[in-house]
Amino acid sequence: MKILGIESSCDETAAAIAENGKTVLANEIASSVVLHQKTGGIVPEIAARDAAEKILPIIERAFSTANLSWKDIDAIAVTNGPGLAGSLLVGIETARTLAFLHTKPLIPVHHIIGHIYANVLEREEVIFPALVLTVSGGHNNLILWRDFLDFALVGETRDDAAGEAFDKVAKMLDLPFPGGPAIASLALQGDAKAYKFPRPMQQSGDLDFSFSGLKTAVLYALAKEKHLNEKKKADLAASFQEAVIDSLIFKLKQAAMRFGVREIHLAGGVSANRRLQEKTALLCRKNGWQLLLPVKPIYSTDNAAMIAAAGYFIYQKTPAREWDISKVRLNLQQELPQ
Ligand code: KG4
Ligand code: ZN
Repeated sequence: MKILGIESSCDETAAAIAENGKTVLANEIASSVVLHQKTGGIVPEIAARDAAEKILPIIERAFSTANLSWKDIDAIAVTNGPGLAGSLLVGIETARTLAFLHTKPLIPVHHIIGHIYANVLEREEVIFPALVLTVSGGHNNLILWRDFLDFALVGETRDDAAGEAFDKVAKMLDLPFPGGPAIASLALQGDAKAYKFPRPMQQSGDLDFSFSGLKTAVLYALAKEKHLNEKKKADLAASFQEAVIDSLIFKLKQAAMRFGVREIHLAGGVSANRRLQEKTALLCRKNGWQLLLPVKPIYSTDNAAMIAAAGYFIYQKTPAREWDISKVRLNLQQELPQ
């Protein structure tokens, strides 16, 4: 079964075609990163206008890469939220129109569920229960994945997502947008022990996260520096990155032990972070857990292949006739659908 996936929840406009939720036949992404480098962060209106311009060409490109036409497509899957309302509506309305014109079932996909399925792409098996850390600019969740369509949210951020903290600290350090990759590469030249930043929420007794205090700690450390040379900047980046990663890993370990999982999955934009990958790999080796990362870095950040994959598994559970185009609506709730 071949599904066309459409994703436009933030600053990327993407279309992909995947077969049986695993084999990626095309995965096309048009990013508005150049526009947002000029504004130093995401401006929802600019992101939405850009999506409106790029969505049809990117869908056409997916068909041409896969060398397929509409008759080969069994269904369309579209991200219906959460994310930026304007950008999402571009994807949703385009998908609704195309589903109507070509008489295809239309499957709405929750963005975070999409990220979870990024780890199924081009893979054979998932061993349940698995623990998934979905961490990006807009979300920071710990999810217990009990079966293909059975998810439980066991931890979440109480304020900023880790990616958002990366982006904001990068801005304080005058680094380009998006901040995560910029901080990660600067951190390679820095000393992670140079600044003592807090590891928030370790005594909270739950599996939640918080990154706003850490961001403020960086702001204070910066204010104390009279001459911020390149070395100090790299030390700040490395020390901040280490604090974020330690905070993520602390709760990941607690949750994995509590739920007796065999696999740990990283998903979402921040999962592309090498240091996070290394430290999680070490944690997994010590505890006999299997670590799964998206098989390609492009499946970590926002993409439509993951939406096509999620759409496939959702579709398997619910027969085609129940997919009514008029029921597909914008959904800005973070809660995972059951
Ligand atoms: O999943 P994603 O593409 O979009 C959202 O759903 O938010 O994630 C984007 C986020 C941004 O905050 C970006 O700074 C962060 O992921 N990111 C990284 C890295 N690559 C992307 N953060 C840390 N290290 C990276 N290598
Ligand atoms: Zn995302």
